[in-house]
Amino acid sequence: MVRLLGRMGVPYRATVEFAVMKRLFLLLGLPAVLLLSLTASKGSKTTEEKVVEIGHKATMNLLKKLLGEVTTSLEEKGAAATIRYCSERAYPLTDSISKALGVKIKRTTFKYRNPKNKPDKYEEEALRYFEKFFKEGKKPPKYYVQKIERNGELVYRYYFPLKVLKLCLTCHGTVGKDVDPKLYEVIKETYPEDKATGYKEGDFRGVVRVEIPAERVR
Ligand code: HEC
Repeated sequence: MVRLLGRMGVPYRATVEFAVMKRLFLLLGLPAVLLLSLTASKGSKTTEEKVVEIGHKATMNLLKKLLGEVTTSLEEKGAAATIRYCSERAYPLTDSISKALGVKIKRTTFKYRNPKNKPDKYEEEALRYFEKFFKEGKKPPKYYVQKIERNGELVYRYYFPLKVLKLCLTCHGTVGKDVDPKLYEVIKETYPEDKATGYKEGDFRGVVRVEIPAERVR
């Protein structure tokens, strides 16, 4: 696809791509090298390593897409249109990545905007696990893994912690300070029970959860 040239002759698409990668690394708090080494271990893998590999891949797929589309939409169309994007596209996008990878991806948090994203009891445990590190001002672990037996079915869950970036404050910060009150009216129309404001940069926002059937990681 041919795109307009951005500032100083850098193709616009490449500028956005760079902004997205920068934000992805900020979100992960990891240098690129470490990211690669997480997915490149050789030899026979343990179940946990396989869970982490699949979970990490699914999470990166989702975050790259979401961050990319939110960044582009905010710049090109503004916040109100991007709210619509988040409402209409976040679910289909999550579902299509889930289907393609044979997993179930969900974003969940204690302070949710959409009640469909409310945590179940296992997710609450994972959220509490990460929250503790943030509360104590410590660097959170890169992931959390659970093994769950439900009605005779065995599944694994991989959780990835999400940090609040500056860009997120437009819609998740303090209303009247970071969030334009007019924009918040738009948010409230779709989400009358919204709990997802009042965040500051660096806060713990929630997790990406990837559920993996046991037969995938045997
Ligand atoms: C343009 C506004 C906007 C921006 C910017 C934005 N979000 Fe959201 N966010 C939303 C909306 C709207 C929803 C509800 C989506 C839905 O219906 O599932 C949401 C939902 C979420 C959820 C799912 C849990 C919940 O509360 O329902 C997470 C996690 C989340 N956002 C994290 C982030 C992070 C992290 C950033 C910054 C990287 C960010 N958001 C930036 C508007 C935004």
